[in-house]
Amino acid sequence: MITPANRPIVVAPSILAADFSRLREEIQAVEAAGADWIHLDVMDGHFVPNISFGSGMIKSLRPHTRLPFDVHLMIAPADPYLAAFADAGADRISVHAEAGPHLHRSLQTIRALGKRPGVVVNPGTPVEPLAWVLDLVDLVLVMTVNPGFGAQSFLDSQLPKIAAVRRMIDATGRDIALEVDGGIGPETGARARAAGADTLVAGTAIFGAPDYTAVVAALRA
Ligand code: DX5
Ligand code: ZN
Repeated sequence: MITPANRPIVVAPSILAADFSRLREEIQAVEAAGADWIHLDVMDGHFVPNISFGSGMIKSLRPHTRLPFDVHLMIAPADPYLAAFADAGADRISVHAEAGPHLHRSLQTIRALGKRPGVVVNPGTPVEPLAWVLDLVDLVLVMTVNPGFGAQSFLDSQLPKIAAVRRMIDATGRDIALEVDGGIGPETGARARAAGADTLVAGTAIFGAPDYTAVVAALRA
């Protein structure tokens, strides 16, 4: 049985901070560096104040690594595009609790597409809505910055929320990843882990460093 104590740490580099002109090489470099998943941040310029990339780019990257694709949708509405992200080769698809009125249906749709559903909460969002969808998800993502941009500072205010979500997940007895995203490096990652996180997204800390292997190892240590 996987418990918080024995659940292996998952390191998920966010390619938002990678060199977009060399994305194939960048994902292959983090795979060689020991990363577990590739985190893909999809932004629509509407739900968040920035535009990144969509399902077409994810589909073209899919053949170039064996790592699972962890797709973080920062788009509203999300439902009309879920099938396209499933078709593009996403393994996990996460939607924001704030992105629409039918979170429960979005998560059901992702499962019906044969993918692992995740739910995301922004820093200002309480944990209570999660209680009513935990039975549907394989992942909860607690944002540790306001979504939209990389290279922001980790919000310490989210540590008690991570701990609260840890307790909620443990009470289910199910194997649900507790992911954190935003301002994560070795130091903040260690504090998030102490609070109960097991899956660390890191953009700038990895792609901004000269030695990806050293940072992935430091996040896992
Ligand atoms: C923010 C994104 C993050 C971002 C993290 O909206 O969801 O995944 O890329 O970047 P860093 O690690 O630089 O804070
Ligand atoms: Zn993200």
